[in-house]
Amino acid sequence: MPLALVSTYQTFQLMSFKQIAVIGAGTMGNGIAHVFAQSGFTVKLIDVNGAQLEKALQTIGKNLDRQVSKGALSEGQKSIALANITTHTDLAVGVQNADLVVEAATENTDLKLKIFRSLDEAAPANTILATNTSSISITKIAAATKRPNKVIGMHFMNPVPVMKLVEIINGYATDKAVTDAIVAMSTQLGKVPCVVNDYPGFIANRILMPMINEAIYSLYEGVAGVEAIDTVMKLGMAHPMGPLQLADFIGLDVCLSILNVLHDGFGNPKYAPCPLLVNMVTAGYLGVKSGEGFYQHTAGSKDLVVSERFR
Ligand code: CAA
Repeated sequence: MPLALVSTYQTFQLMSFKQIAVIGAGTMGNGIAHVFAQSGFTVKLIDVNGAQLEKALQTIGKNLDRQVSKGALSEGQKSIALANITTHTDLAVGVQNADLVVEAATENTDLKLKIFRSLDEAAPANTILATNTSSISITKIAAATKRPNKVIGMHFMNPVPVMKLVEIINGYATDKAVTDAIVAMSTQLGKVPCVVNDYPGFIANRILMPMINEAIYSLYEGVAGVEAIDTVMKLGMAHPMGPLQLADFIGLDVCLSILNVLHDGFGNPKYAPCPLLVNMVTAGYLGVKSGEGFYQHTAGSKDLVVSERFR
């Protein structure tokens, strides 16, 4: 086949996504599975932990119910979305017919490299391998495979069914046809794709995390209290959550780890994490997931109660 035709044929092949595999059934993984299934794709949700898969299906069911109760989805559409998802504990079985794999495992470089090595062996040669990493280098993850041109970042925001953005990150070797296919696919999901290049923090976290860090520094230096800092940003800048509430929502450990990536990656002291953030993470005060951060988080309650430590 002439070279131009081979390339067109490959682009066409890349465009015809039907089966999606999602690796990791945590908060991001279940949200990603939810939006693909709702958009009519067949989804294989894969996690080594069977109990986590059960929990993820329950969460997806609850979030679909929420959409039904708001009139955004019919009962029939909810049933179809749920029927589109099957769960697997065996990665090799789950990805064997996948057109696209979206990895959303824990944010740990060694783990992601290991997963991508396995994906490269188990998934068909044409399968695009995407990662939902919030800060690990796409180029580094891609280099663990023999298909770095088919590896790309697909960074969804939490809560995935609600947030419109997908930050699409080109690794150094990502093919343009792959980027184009992922842009088109993200639009099919009802999302708004933004393409960026692979440098520390990409765009979302390069801008978000210094803002969160500055809010924590303002608290640490006694410029203002938790409520005042968050209210200024909520009412003054129309942010849906103040930066300290958002840090609790994202997880203080995740914020710290992303700031460390920025600090190490750029070698610029402006990214140095605030010592208060470091202390809170060391002590296990991680925000919503641990029950306390800048706020107290009681299960089932939406009330914002500032942590006693900051009153
Ligand atoms: N699934 C489906 N729908 C959901 C949902 C979920 N998990 N969570 C909330 N919703 C829906 C609700 O049903 C509601 O729908 P309607 O507007 O149709 O009524 C809507 O979202 C708003 O929800 P609530 O009324 O319950 O609550 P809220 O108004 O306080 O909004 C929020 C909640 C959407 C989370 C809002 O506070 C918000 O936008 N917060 C900021 C979120 C944000 O910045 N996310 C990015 C974090 S950074 C990141 O993810 C990347 C990273 O790398 C760190």
